Amino acid sequence: MKTWLQWLGAAALAAATGSAYPQAYPNHAVTLVVPFAAGGPTDVVARTLAASMGKTLGQSVIVENKLGAGGTIAANYVAKAAPDGYTIFIHHNGMATATALYRKLPYNPLTDFEYIGQVADVPMTLLARKDFPPDNLRDYVAYVRANKERINLANAGLGAVSHLCGMLLQQAMGVELTTVPFQGTGPALTALLGGQVDTLCDQTTQTIPHIKANSVKLYGVTAPGRINALPQAPTLDEQGLKGFQVVVWHGIYVPKGTPAPVVEKLQTAVRSALKDPAFRQRMTDLGAEIVPDAKLTSEGLRSWLQTETDRYGPMIRKAGAYAD
Ligand code: MLT
Repeated sequence: MKTWLQWLGAAALAAATGSAYPQAYPNHAVTLVVPFAAGGPTDVVARTLAASMGKTLGQSVIVENKLGAGGTIAANYVAKAAPDGYTIFIHHNGMATATALYRKLPYNPLTDFEYIGQVADVPMTLLARKDFPPDNLRDYVAYVRANKERINLANAGLGAVSHLCGMLLQQAMGVELTTVPFQGTGPALTALLGGQVDTLCDQTTQTIPHIKANSVKLYGVTAPGRINALPQAPTLDEQGLKGFQVVVWHGIYVPKGTPAPVVEKLQTAVRSALKDPAFRQRMTDLGAEIVPDAKLTSEGLRSWLQTETDRYGPMIRKAGAYAD
């Protein structure tokens, strides 16, 4: 009863002050939807961000993993959620590749959301199981070309960046490999550590601890240049896969129609998180680069998503890698 009265009071105040939303937001926990399995790279970024955002919002930010179809099931869920600021979404380049990969996509990434901003850029690493014969990228390419019938490549499904990286890698090597999809690269990396799959392209936010533990073979990073977190690791580009680059960006989204004051509160919470020493240290240790404030704007994210959608479309159509 008391909460309803407070709510009504706040709503009346909001109506009197002309703002579209009670000032009380948030007055209960907020859910951050993650489109891939718990423990994986997107989940690592999300949980670190959630912990920090909660401090600013004064309410817990709870992570919910909604799996399947390369992240499009989670995206569709959020696109159709109540536009009240209590359901927020984190997704990566998959938000841009979905439009070309899924020709019957039940939502439009470019119009069905409000755009909070970007948070961090993460390079990827090309790995293989510990006992995979080649010891460097040149031998890896030769070995894969010579044994393509019996080598498999793990990924997190069509729409995942591990799929995107794998697709570009196969194009660059001129081979077609058997791919083994998982609900995230968390379980894919577990299978690689167990020797059930041969090779995987995955983000440093998950792979660095295993690379440092020497429990996987590393062939290189997909960043434009070497990264501080793995200074010894050469890039795929410098080893001869000229121009091969995949950097995983992360955007935060809410359903279309979420009121502007709520979008601003969420942007403030994300901005504080990006300045939070605990968040920064964890991301830096895992090879991620925190984005500059300029990338934490609605128009910035929406126009970047448009640019990436236009960039990936032709690549996906060339590969004919359709999900439906
Ligand atoms: C994950 O968190 O599992 C990855 O981001 C999936 C992927 O896109 O490769």
